[in-house]
Amino acid sequence: MRFLTMFRRGRDSGCNYGLILSRAHSRIFFFITLQIILPAKSGGPEGMKSREMLKQHAHKIYTGVKRLPGISALINTTAWQILRFKIALLTSRRRNCHFTSFLRMPTQFEALSGPVLDFLFKDGGMKALKVTVMGCSIGAEAYSIASVLRSSHPDLAFTVHAYDIDKGCIDKARSARYTTEEVLNNEMLPSDFISSTFDREDGHYVIKGEIRERVQFDLADVLDLNLKEQVGTSDIVYAQHFLIHLEREQARKGIENICGLLNPRAALFISGTVLDMLVKLTRKNNLIPCDYNVEEIHKEAGVYGRGWPYIYFGCEPFMTVRKDWQRRYATIFFRI
Ligand SMILES: C[S@@+](CC[C@H](N)C(=O)[O-])C[C@H]1O[C@@H](n2cnc3c(N)ncnc32)[C@H](O)[C@@H]1O
Repeated sequence: MRFLTMFRRGRDSGCNYGLILSRAHSRIFFFITLQIILPAKSGGPEGMKSREMLKQHAHKIYTGVKRLPGISALINTTAWQILRFKIALLTSRRRNCHFTSFLRMPTQFEALSGPVLDFLFKDGGMKALKVTVMGCSIGAEAYSIASVLRSSHPDLAFTVHAYDIDKGCIDKARSARYTTEEVLNNEMLPSDFISSTFDREDGHYVIKGEIRERVQFDLADVLDLNLKEQVGTSDIVYAQHFLIHLEREQARKGIENICGLLNPRAALFISGTVLDMLVKLTRKNNLIPCDYNVEEIHKEAGVYGRGWPYIYFGCEPFMTVRKDWQRRYATIFFRI
């Protein structure tokens, strides 16, 4: 019954699971058929011809099997897809990725300048804030944070310290100079953000001096056992869209290390990780999920994580029938 409700929810969220699944099944079926039958027939134009014929036969058989009542119901269930995603997580080879965007998840930035600052300054006046960004890529996230904080709270004193393992990324971030493609790859980027963040120089977008002076970049590895000694603790820590690209055990170590960077009262921004692990480790570290527009932020994260359940970095549909869904889909956590 729970599975049926989950399936309905998945369908309501606009995913055409049936279509995706059918295609995946076709591929698996063809692959198995070709592996078993074709070696004997391979070689030369004749081999090619019989391969094509076999493909067609296999497709016909598969289409028939797929229509059988039990099978078609099964491949349309969310339960199957959850299992399929677990297989993707278990079997896919991870690869590093440098993709980033300015103001990548706009609603999460609203949360930064609203409920997150309210939480941090709850017990008194504003103090100077230290923000740490791990896995900063070419700097779009770190400069976006500085730009949003400066625009929303002009009197706030803050510094942003951003780190990556890739020297090329750090050099590019320090240059503070971006191409049109790098800036406009986010279709949600509002024009007032562009005008308050960049100056235009020779067809490039250059970060304004007053934002740039608040941000510094350096090399650091989230898996380094001496990370805390290197970067210190902070009021706000970002660790977004790279933990999912690490092997499971490394991701676990990374999250534990990141939790060690939080001040006694602090906020953690963490999107793009294995959700089961996120639930477990945020609870273990006594972090409280921030409930600000969780669904909207999750949707914005999903724009960059298509391909669930077949791709390990695919973004799971928002399903409130999942246990602990508020913690599961939250991307901002408070240490109180
Ligand atoms: C996909 S980008 C995300 C950039 C930015 N956080 C965002 O959300 O737009 C991930 C970055 O994390 C970096 N990275 C990967 N493993 C890392 C590690 N162990 N420590 C620090 N950075 C890492 C990669 O080099 C890459 O530039």
